[in-house]
Amino acid sequence: MKTLIVANWKMNPQTAKEAKKLFDAVKKGAKNKNTDIVICPPFVYLPLLKGLPLGAQNIFWEEKGAFTGEICAAQLKDLKIKYVIIGHSERRKYFGETNEQINKKIKKALDRDINPIFCIGETLEENRAEKKSEVLERQITEGLHGVSKFEIQNSKLVIAYEPVWAIGTGQNCSVDETLKSMLLIRKIISNMYNRELADDMKMLYGGSVNSKNSAEYIKGGGVSGLLVGGASLDAQEFISIIKSI
Ligand code: PGA
Repeated sequence: MKTLIVANWKMNPQTAKEAKKLFDAVKKGAKNKNTDIVICPPFVYLPLLKGLPLGAQNIFWEEKGAFTGEICAAQLKDLKIKYVIIGHSERRKYFGETNEQINKKIKKALDRDINPIFCIGETLEENRAEKKSEVLERQITEGLHGVSKFEIQNSKLVIAYEPVWAIGTGQNCSVDETLKSMLLIRKIISNMYNRELADDMKMLYGGSVNSKNSAEYIKGGGVSGLLVGGASLDAQEFISIIKSI
């Protein structure tokens, strides 16, 4: 199975010119036949970037109509977008996204053959209070509520484990702790569906990934890939991550 490396550019860069420059540099340097690469830029740059698979950073669950500021599945499909990040902790934190809303977004994406990159992860407080298992279980069971085994098997739904305390802090989660979380997530998925589906599911780690720590996760973290934020904004650094795999 190929390793999946997803770049989450978040609300960067500031201009289309910079976005194209970054994208072209990555496209040129990021050749590794062992990896699949997906770039998730802000919506406004999606139509401008060609030559690598693209993902969106959000989706709305309604079909169309009067929802100012939202982007629907049909609009993403029209641009041939293959992936969408759903439930990122920044959306949960700053925009109050709930597990129920995330569930609706996942269902809509699956319905339209857009692969969700479903983000989960506990906060520092939850981690310290030893509530990680409880939090992950709730995020997964509520996020995938009503999603059938068949729908998951027919999609490339990816789960991204991103402990909130590791995002953008430089404090990446240890490989051991990541491995434990991956086993826990697979167990939750196995209980919800079955063992085979849990074993086959792609799972990413995200949170302060850089070219120095990337290979360790693939080697010993039980992950099928990485979700990279800050380090994906520097073409050389991102290329080094890809080459480290
Ligand atoms: P980071 O972000 O790599 O900058 O920690 C990861 C993410 O938020 O997806």
